[in-house]
Amino acid sequence: MERIAIELGDVQETLLSTLYARAVETRKKHGILRDPKAVEMVERIDYDFTKFDGSPTLVASVMRTLLLDEWVRGFLSLHPKGTVVEVGAGLNTRFERVDNGRTHWVDLDLPDSMKLRERFFTESDRRRMVAASVLDDSWHEVVRALPAPYFFVSEGVLLYLDETDVRNALGRVAQGFPGARIAFDTAGRWMVEHQDDAMFKKRVAATYAWHCDDPEEVQRWDVGLRLTESRTLLQLPRALRSRLPVLTRLALSGIKLFYGRKARVFLVNLFESQPSLRANRR
Ligand SMILES: C[S@@+](CC[C@H](N)C(=O)[O-])C[C@H]1O[C@@H](n2cnc3c(N)ncnc32)[C@H](O)[C@@H]1O
Repeated sequence: MERIAIELGDVQETLLSTLYARAVETRKKHGILRDPKAVEMVERIDYDFTKFDGSPTLVASVMRTLLLDEWVRGFLSLHPKGTVVEVGAGLNTRFERVDNGRTHWVDLDLPDSMKLRERFFTESDRRRMVAASVLDDSWHEVVRALPAPYFFVSEGVLLYLDETDVRNALGRVAQGFPGARIAFDTAGRWMVEHQDDAMFKKRVAATYAWHCDDPEEVQRWDVGLRLTESRTLLQLPRALRSRLPVLTRLALSGIKLFYGRKARVFLVNLFESQPSLRANRR
């Protein structure tokens, strides 16, 4: 079968590393995530994925995925017909993993990433695919036409943007969708400063731009976001942690002991939009 050639910008190319992380985990005998479509996509795309082999960020990325999947499932259990917006969707298969048969869904990404996504995914009466940047508002109308409440999830995306852009984009979502949940990961300062260290085997040109060790900082931006939960990958909920292989759990405990605060490598954060918070302070 002919392999699919890719034409992606630098940040867009990073969608291939998170895709590969899910494929590698799926191929493991006792992997913690099942994503057969990721395996299929890796086989179809003409790209040297093996350059990521051995990078510790592969398993970190899968742990982040598991936690975000759990939060989306939690939302859908309370609001089965609500709308989930996957911001910077890449080739993520979260819809396939968590779909309850009733939710509405929007996958949003930049035009070149979306063009690749369209090779593998199609729209349906409950699922839309939108080519746009999180930094503009053109896509808000598409979301607003779908049933509330809303859950925005953005995995491995905002950390590539400048802090000012993140602040503006989150502020507009908070103001436009009162009561929405917004989940996204941040990279700690240590991670951003050490991203090019050989041990991380980054192997792509894109660089993390925004560091955030303390998600309460985002709440203090005063854009109408209230922090409801934040976890480092070392503080996964018990049910998720128990799915990790014993050796991974031991390694995580060792990292925590050895690196202390530096272990705030990636944080996964959940906010609720409360535009009134902003109004009250003015
Ligand atoms: C590391 S990949 C993560 C992809 C996907 N979330 C996942 O977990 O596999 C980063 C993604 O962010 C997208 N992205 C970067 N800047 C963006 C922007 N301004 N608006 C929307 N998506 C963006 C890229 O195109 C890419 O798909």
